Amino acid sequence: MAKIKSKFVCQNCGYETSGYLGKCPECGTWGSIVEEILDEEKKSSLIDLPDKNPPKKLSEIEMNSEVRMSTGISEFDRVLGGGIVQGSLILIAGDPGIGKSTILLQTSGELCKNNKNVLYVSAEESISQIKLRADRLEVKAENLYIYPQTNFELIKKHIEDMKPDLVIIDSIQAIYTSTIQSSAGSVSQIRECCNSLMTLAKTNNVSIMVIGHVTKEGNIAGPKVLEHMVDTVIQFEGDKYKTYRILRSIKNRFGNTSEVGIFEMGSKGLKEVINPSELFLKEYNQTQTPGSTIIVTNEGTRPLLVEIQALVGTTPYPTPRRVANGVDLSRVLQILAVLEKRIGLNLSKQDVYVNVIGGIDVSEPSADLGIALAIITCVRDVVFDSHTAIVGEIGLSGEIRAVSHIDKRINEAQKLGFKRIIIPASNEVQDNNDIEILKVQRIIEAITRAVSK
Ligand code: TYD
Ligand code: MG
Repeated sequence: MAKIKSKFVCQNCGYETSGYLGKCPECGTWGSIVEEILDEEKKSSLIDLPDKNPPKKLSEIEMNSEVRMSTGISEFDRVLGGGIVQGSLILIAGDPGIGKSTILLQTSGELCKNNKNVLYVSAEESISQIKLRADRLEVKAENLYIYPQTNFELIKKHIEDMKPDLVIIDSIQAIYTSTIQSSAGSVSQIRECCNSLMTLAKTNNVSIMVIGHVTKEGNIAGPKVLEHMVDTVIQFEGDKYKTYRILRSIKNRFGNTSEVGIFEMGSKGLKEVINPSELFLKEYNQTQTPGSTIIVTNEGTRPLLVEIQALVGTTPYPTPRRVANGVDLSRVLQILAVLEKRIGLNLSKQDVYVNVIGGIDVSEPSADLGIALAIITCVRDVVFDSHTAIVGEIGLSGEIRAVSHIDKRINEAQKLGFKRIIIPASNEVQDNNDIEILKVQRIIEAITRAVSK
């Protein structure tokens, strides 16, 4: 009889222990430790892989040129750093229902148009459900194989037999390997399957895309372990109630990270948004109210214009409320502290709400000045000039600090018809005759300039 060994694994962080614990000592989660049984005999027979790649001198390594395959969707290619690298393992992570299966089915369709073979392993949905979606997306592909399977060993066999150009695993949480006895979706299963997929991708030189659902906390598949194992992590973000979807690269062994691709979900699936700033500013001019400004943020290599709104009013509560949507709350609190201390704005009895329009997250400090001016114009009840865009980071003494990629931001604002842009005085800029550049050193100066225009 095979020797049965068990271990206790935290389902949140992957911490392993030999006995049951109520609280994970690693991540502090209560009740997350679950017993998992490991079949030692089967596992050891699988570990015995032939050592094909002994250590080699760096100078003796031959360079193979990186083979990239276009997905046929340019926004997706951009996020991947120019296409799918052959033999890579890519994780597509996102909330359930955000559109992961949709984009990968569309990608499969596009690849098949270019005579590529695609194996779509559907571990969650039935063949007819996929067919229905494919009809809706108008995906008609000869070389697209749909395989409803949850067992890893069977999936592996078909990948090795078929050697497709791309394999899609929908999703990693729904497949299981027989070498481990815990149920599909547990940390050990996910880790083992992902590891085996990585080996499979490298040994057969097939690209594999794996879908992973995100937990409530925003961690991929519960354990962060998955992120470290794959070559590329692409996160699918967006507000489920809005139509925009943002693909963001958060790890890429073959390209730039923090690159974004923007899509719109429609009745025929996801459509690329070629000019995202236009989309984010669509409603700006019609709904001009005090407390609204336009900032130029930088997402990856692309500048984006987005609208920031602030609402300030006397609080009916004992403690005033501070709410931030799309920007970091601690950043907003810091800006409020600077406004109180440096320009004497008294907000101790005021509620402050800050919102970024369009469901996009702005994490860059270059949005500081835009947020500050939205708050100030709301307090003073003046409408901010709709032809002026703003960039600048605010320091604790009220000084405006330089931001990166200033020329790109200025050009984007000018392209979208803005007449003026407020920028930090310390930023060096190229001459641009088509847009007026207002350089400011201190926050007070920015207010005077913006409000008097
Ligand atoms: P799906 O790709 O199934 O999400 P995931 O795989 O990330 O769980 O997308 C599901 C949502 O997308 C669903 O709420 C319906 C919507 N949708 C459209 O709006 N239009 C479409 O053409 C398709 C296929 C889906
Ligand atoms: Mg799905």
